[in-house]
Amino acid sequence: MDVINAIQKRRSVRTFDYERPVNDADIMKILEAGRLAPSWKNHQPWRFVVVRSAEGRAAIADCLSEGNPARTAIRHASAVLVLLGVPEEGEVHQEKSFYLVDCGISGENMYLEAVELGLSAVWVSLLDGPGVCRSVGAPEGWECVGVFPIGYALPEEEAKPRRPRRPLGEVAFLEKVGQAFQY
Ligand SMILES: Cc1cc2nc3c(=O)[nH]c(=O)nc-3n(C[C@H](O)[C@H](O)[C@H](O)COP(=O)(O)O)c2cc1C
Repeated sequence: MDVINAIQKRRSVRTFDYERPVNDADIMKILEAGRLAPSWKNHQPWRFVVVRSAEGRAAIADCLSEGNPARTAIRHASAVLVLLGVPEEGEVHQEKSFYLVDCGISGENMYLEAVELGLSAVWVSLLDGPGVCRSVGAPEGWECVGVFPIGYALPEEEAKPRRPRRPLGEVAFLEKVGQAFQY
């Protein structure tokens, strides 16, 4: 599959076929995609924790507010991937935390690889980050950048349309912002 196919196919999925587990071989491929991401000065300020146990998943789900629509998926998915960032391995330049950018790239690499493997997921970052860090035994100073429940989408989920995006003309320009890029 071309990368663009995975990009086009990807959408946030929060309900999975919980009877169909994700296998470890696929999880390894997903982790490898994250490991290979580019980063500022190649510092690779990311760590990944795969959480399979019901207790581990419940502890992470409890770090989301009741209203977060990804809570149930985290509780029931056969695999939850926790993306941790190590701020001290990154640098801040012009008030930009590069470790967050690096981890974002790594996270999207993993997400797209999951889609490539026929899996679905949702990126979850609105949570009690320190709580997630504690639940996975992260050392002091590390941060939870995101959590991904991963699974096989139910057919009705697969059938749902992609969420809309701004048209290209609104976000892409030629030479100067406001000047249309035409092709
Ligand atoms: C940084 C980030 C944080 C997100 N946090 C959550 C979250 O806490 N809970 C949730 O259900 N979805 C979360 N999402 C998923 C977004 O709501 C979703 O990507 C967006 O609505 C676009 O939909 P799509 O992914 O289907 O294209 C997050 C996405 C990103 C990129």
